[in-house]
Amino acid sequence: MRMRLLFTAAFLLTVWGINAQICDDNAKNLQNCGWLNMTEQDCHNYNCCWAQSRLGPNCYHKIFKPAIYKVSSKETTSNGYTLVLTTKDIIPAKYGIAITPLQVDIYMETADRLRVKIYDPNNHRWEIPTRIVPAPNPPTNKPVYLNYNIETSELNEVFWFAVERATSGEVIFNSSVGNSLLFYDQYIEVGSQLPKAFNLYGLGKNMYFVSS
Ligand SMILES: *[C@@H]1O[C@H](CO)[C@@H](O)[C@H](O)[C@H]1NC(C)=O
Ligand SMILES: *[C@@H]1O[C@H](CO)[C@@H](O)[C@H](O)[C@H]1NC(C)=O
Repeated sequence: MRMRLLFTAAFLLTVWGINAQICDDNAKNLQNCGWLNMTEQDCHNYNCCWAQSRLGPNCYHKIFKPAIYKVSSKETTSNGYTLVLTTKDIIPAKYGIAITPLQVDIYMETADRLRVKIYDPNNHRWEIPTRIVPAPNPPTNKPVYLNYNIETSELNEVFWFAVERATSGEVIFNSSVGNSLLFYDQYIEVGSQLPKAFNLYGLGKNMYFVSS
């Protein structure tokens, strides 16, 4: 059985001047800024964060705190779901300002094919034309049998979606790891923890190895 997940994302390349980040003394893996015994004033002059009392570096580089998307509506459609995601976090981050709201269209296209489209419903962005990456025509109705189950978080929860094999219950994809979803003008990230022998392709530029 082969299962296909289709992801569609629209990108627009623009150059943002915004590069603001934040200070969070409790964040993990803070990077030292400056030098030993640096003064608070010097630390601020370097546009870094000062934390006199914390264990670890007193002066550290600002961190990127991603916007968290929550489900603000979830509807069942004839062949899937439509979700609207919003984030209240308007802190400009490394990649610009998080796009909000976002729409997630989930289509159960065939018994083996599921399509997840995450996009900005208010501003049409450039999408890879189907003559370059041909997409199968979507059927109009939900197939009678499905070889997978799709699950998403509920209303007001942090957004994630997960796909498992119907027969074995094996989890193929669960985006509820790390940042869950990042959706910026210049950067999009969605991740999943993978089993040791994974069978997922066409996705993923970065791999993080975690030990259990
Ligand atoms: C940093 O401060 C400590 C304590 O005041 C001092 O012993 C040490 O010599 C200083 N190090 C540098 C590189 O200035
Ligand atoms: C995906 O992860 C979330 C959060 O850990 C969990 O509640 C959910 O049951 C998982 N879903 C599947 C299908 O693994």
